Amino acid sequence: MVKSAHGVLNGFLISFEGTEGSGKSTLIRQVGLLLDQWGQPTLLTREPGGSALAEKIRSVVLESSMNPWTELFLYEAARAEHLTQTILPALERGEIVLCDRFTDSTLAYQGHARGLPWKQVKTLNQIATGGLRPRLTVFLDIDPEAGLRRAQDANRFEAEGIKFQERVRKGFLKARAERPKSWLTLRSDKLTATQLAEKVVQHLTSKRWIKKRE
Ligand code: TYD
Repeated sequence: MVKSAHGVLNGFLISFEGTEGSGKSTLIRQVGLLLDQWGQPTLLTREPGGSALAEKIRSVVLESSMNPWTELFLYEAARAEHLTQTILPALERGEIVLCDRFTDSTLAYQGHARGLPWKQVKTLNQIATGGLRPRLTVFLDIDPEAGLRRAQDANRFEAEGIKFQERVRKGFLKARAERPKSWLTLRSDKLTATQLAEKVVQHLTSKRWIKKRE
């Protein structure tokens, strides 16, 4: 149980981060299935999106090219909605929220790859989340070139090519260096999705954040 600016939260948030084609979405589904078997209530969600209005913002931000600041504000606007409509209610109910991308994506993409000022991006992340941070960030690390080959749905970020993905990866490494204890890094090309999911669950049990319910 965590007392926060948002009141008492019984659940906790895990974000899944990575460059394009790292296999996050498959991993999240697998972790969700395993946690189900453990009797843990979970909520699977994603950013940008995860609530009705945030999904509308998603289609705008993924479709068109725009000023990087507009892009940043749209991600943060979607996040503020997602937080109040979806994430906080689930945490209050005591669920484990598994989120495909969160604030570290904004640091990596807008703050590092797009070159917006890192500190200002952090401030906006803090405002949009009211200070809520993931208890754990699972970083699926893959060679950006291999990731681009694996990525199936070409959105406009994937179209920016390898140099951009390399900058995004560096951005993630920079974010990780700021909070190393809250990150779990897994190499996504070495193990199957099930093996990766088992590693995540092992991590949660080793920290005593979950135990099996009968
Ligand atoms: P999506 O198709 O969901 O990509 P992926 O499957 O790789 O997660 O599109 C989300 C895109 O939005 C992805 O390219 C990363 C980008 N993004 C940002 O640039 N900033 C952010 O804050 C977030 C949450 C995502």
